[in-house]
Amino acid sequence: MKFKLAVLPGDGVGPEIVAEGVKVLQAIGEKYGHQFDLTYGLIGGVAIDKQGTALAPETVKMCKKADAVLHGAVGDPRWDKDPNASPRPEDGLLAIRKALGLFANIRPVFMYPELVDTPNLKPEVVRGVDFIVIRELTGGLYFGRPKRRYTTSRGRRAVDTMSYSEAEIVRIVKVGFELARNRKKKLVSVDKANVLETSRLWRQIAMEIAADYPDVSLEHMLVDSCSMRFIQNPRYFDVIVTENTFGDIITDEASMLAGSMGMLPSASLAGIPKSGERIYGLYEPIHGSAPSHTGKNDINPIATINSVTMALRYSLGLEKEAKAIESAVEGVLRDDYRTYDIMSEGMKKVGTREMGDLVAKRI
Ligand code: IPM
Ligand code: MG
Repeated sequence: MKFKLAVLPGDGVGPEIVAEGVKVLQAIGEKYGHQFDLTYGLIGGVAIDKQGTALAPETVKMCKKADAVLHGAVGDPRWDKDPNASPRPEDGLLAIRKALGLFANIRPVFMYPELVDTPNLKPEVVRGVDFIVIRELTGGLYFGRPKRRYTTSRGRRAVDTMSYSEAEIVRIVKVGFELARNRKKKLVSVDKANVLETSRLWRQIAMEIAADYPDVSLEHMLVDSCSMRFIQNPRYFDVIVTENTFGDIITDEASMLAGSMGMLPSASLAGIPKSGERIYGLYEPIHGSAPSHTGKNDINPIATINSVTMALRYSLGLEKEAKAIESAVEGVLRDDYRTYDIMSEGMKKVGTREMGDLVAKRI
């Protein structure tokens, strides 16, 4: 079969990790007789440098023509020095999520058995961790208006707005129920309903939707308590659904339960995934552009490779091929190859390209 992919490597280590994702994708193409046509575009700091904007309209157009989008990372320290900088590289990522209607961000947190002995982790706590966080991606504090800084007679002030419509909550909570239905039928909705009005609406709507999913149990959990439970007993969780900012924060925390930020992929979908249906989406690791690692060939490409797996699964309908990448990654870890971030005693340390080669070779 033939597929079109838009590729947006972005800033920092973005191009390096995306190259390894593409390497593995092409290996899948060769093995299974698929043709993946790739078109490359700019996003983030590189786009600001070359096009004067973090996301040009032609880039959005190019992405809309593709079956799926593969994204690396955005962010560059050049913009961090000036809190007034505008546009910022991150604006490109937020703009593309909005422009492509990617409201459902799926972040699987999976501890490979081979990594339970990663330093800093308690094997008895993290062994068997396997849950999914569904993060709402186009609403909440990130996009709410008003959003501005201004000066009053008493000094400077800034405002961000947390706002959610019923329709926005309904569709994301449904994603939670659909995914929970195909797993352990246990959905945890994370909010701050003891304080926030948006959370109280969210909770109410979640309870209403639960009536359509009698096979799934729904539990509400406060976000502070959820953060604590992640560390105390992460195996408690199976599917979690939460709003944008909470989801951003708890998935960085959760990534440590999988050994490293470098292990966590994500899918940002424009629809509700139901088994057998292809959905348009953008695929990216959850980590950032890691500027201090740029060009060092040491960053872990597995998060990006696993994001390609998710693209095959959700947008291209290639489940068998997705499984092939999963077992290739497992095989490489079983053979004791590790990038620096998941390194432990007695293992074989490899760089970004070597890790990509090892996975591609096992396809
Ligand atoms: C993420 C990142 C982004 C976010 C940044 C780069 C804007 O942290 O995808 O988790 O906050 O959504
Ligand atoms: Mg984040």
